[in-house]
Amino acid sequence: MKRFLPDEAATTAFGRELLGALPEDLAGWTLLLAGELGAGKSTLARALIKAAGHRGAVPSPTYTLVEPYILPRGNIYHIDLYRISEEDELRYLGWNELDDGCRIVEWPERAPGLTGQADLAITLSYDGAGRTIEVMGLSDRGKLIAANK
Ligand SMILES: Nc1ncnc2c1ncn2[C@@H]1O[C@H](COP(=O)(O)OP(=O)(O)OP(=O)(O)O)[C@@H](O)[C@H]1O
Ligand SMILES: [Mg+2]
Repeated sequence: MKRFLPDEAATTAFGRELLGALPEDLAGWTLLLAGELGAGKSTLARALIKAAGHRGAVPSPTYTLVEPYILPRGNIYHIDLYRISEEDELRYLGWNELDDGCRIVEWPERAPGLTGQADLAITLSYDGAGRTIEVMGLSDRGKLIAANK
């Protein structure tokens, strides 16, 4: 699935729509958000987190690596791997313990091994003044979501 997003509002609307397509219980889902610097990954993550019921700020996890949100639909962990250099470092951020919630991962390129355990690979690319978004299913349940979007 590929779609053109002309402005930030379109990215936000897409995030809301995507969250609506996910099951009520988000536990165990992993969404990879790839794309260059400034492509809109955090904008999309913020929209997903707010659509899941979070009120208030969604700070960037660039320095904390993980920002947790305890929400009615389950926990969401907003993760930014920009600063990790080796896949091993995932252990320090407690990756395995975060499977009780939905992991939203910016800069998944830093840990290529994640592709095998993720559900959706979402890529944002610059396209004129806007962005193009591509959603690919990785797991079987992710493929169902991507096919219906
Ligand atoms: N569809 C869109 N069209 C044009 N601009 C957009 C779109 N979506 C988001 N933006 C803008 O792109 C800018 C960068 O967004 P954002 O911080 O989400 O990117 P990022 O991919 O998380 O960057 P980083 O790699 O630094 O984490 C913001 O100013 C945002 O308003
Ligand atoms: Mg970001």
